[in-house]
Amino acid sequence: MSKKVIIVGGHGNVSLRLTRLLTPKHTVKSVIRTQDYEDEIRNLSAEPVLLSLEDSPVSDFTAAFEGQDVVYFSAGAGGKGGEERTKRVDYEGAVKVFDAIEGVQGPKPRLILVSAIDVRDPANIPAHYNEEDIASSRRVRTAIAAYMHWKYEADKNLVKRDKFKWTILRPGGLSNEPGTGKAAVGRTHITRQISRDDVAKALELLLDREDAAGLAIDIVGGDTPLEEALDAAIKKGETDFLG
Ligand SMILES: NC(=O)c1ccc[n+]([C@@H]2O[C@H](COP(=O)([O-])OP(=O)(O)OC[C@H]3O[C@@H](n4cnc5c(N)ncnc54)[C@H](OP(=O)(O)O)[C@@H]3O)[C@@H](O)[C@H]2O)c1
Repeated sequence: MSKKVIIVGGHGNVSLRLTRLLTPKHTVKSVIRTQDYEDEIRNLSAEPVLLSLEDSPVSDFTAAFEGQDVVYFSAGAGGKGGEERTKRVDYEGAVKVFDAIEGVQGPKPRLILVSAIDVRDPANIPAHYNEEDIASSRRVRTAIAAYMHWKYEADKNLVKRDKFKWTILRPGGLSNEPGTGKAAVGRTHITRQISRDDVAKALELLLDREDAAGLAIDIVGGDTPLEEALDAAIKKGETDFLG
C-alpha cells in the first residue's frame, strides 16, 4: 500500500538512494537544509521541505510530520564541525525529531532511524564479539569517539520512548560499492562493510515491517538475501541495542 514518508537528512548519500527506491510507489518528502538541493530532490519525484536540525524549532518538525506514516532519520554531521556539531546534529537533532513525533496530533508516524553498529555502553562488550570484532571496535571508538558517544546517547533516549513506534537500523561501515542485495542481519561480526545501496534497500523493506517496532537491527555485508535476512532477524525479535 502506498505510504506517506518523510526523510530527515534527505540529501544524504543513503537518503538519496532510499528516495529513488520509494518514489515510484510512495509519496516522499525530503528534509533538506539548503535550497541548493531543491531541484535535485524534485527531479527524484520527492517534495523538498526546508528545515535544519540545528536551527529549526521542534514545532516546525511536528508540522512537517503531521499526516505522515513514517519518518526516516538518516542525518548526521559526518564529522564536520567537531564534537559540538556532532552533538547538535546526531544527538540533539535526533532528540528534536523524537520530540516532534510525540507532538503530532492524531496518529503518530513510525520512526525508522539509521544509527551505527557497535553503538553501546563502551564497558559492555557484546558476548558474540570475537577478537577481531573487539580490535575493530577499539580502533573505531578511538578514531570517532564523539560520534559513537552521541549516537549512543540518541539511541538510549529513543529506546525509552513508547508514544510512537520506532525501529533502529545499525549498519556497519558504509561503502559506495554497488549493492549486492545480500547482507548479514542481527547479531553478527562487525568488521564487514555494507554498501549504501543495500542499507537503502533494507530501509525500504522496513517500511512494511511494523513488526520491527522496538527493535535495533545490526546489518553488515553478508551472503544472505536481504529480505530473508531481515525477515529472520525481525521474527527472532531480539534487539541488537544492548545498552
Ligand atoms: N559513514 C559510515 O561508515 C556510517 C556507518 C554507519 C552509520 N552511518 C550513519 O548512516 C547515516 C547515513 O549516512 P550517509 O552516508 O547517507 O550520510 P551523509 O551523506 O553524510 O548524510 C547526512 C545528511 O545529514 C544532513 N544534515 C547534516 N546536518 C543537518 C542539519 N543541521 N539539518 C538537517 N540535515 C542535516 C546532511 O545535510 P547536508 O547535505 O546539507 O550536509 C546530509 O544530507 C548517518 O546517520 C551516518 O551517521 C554512517
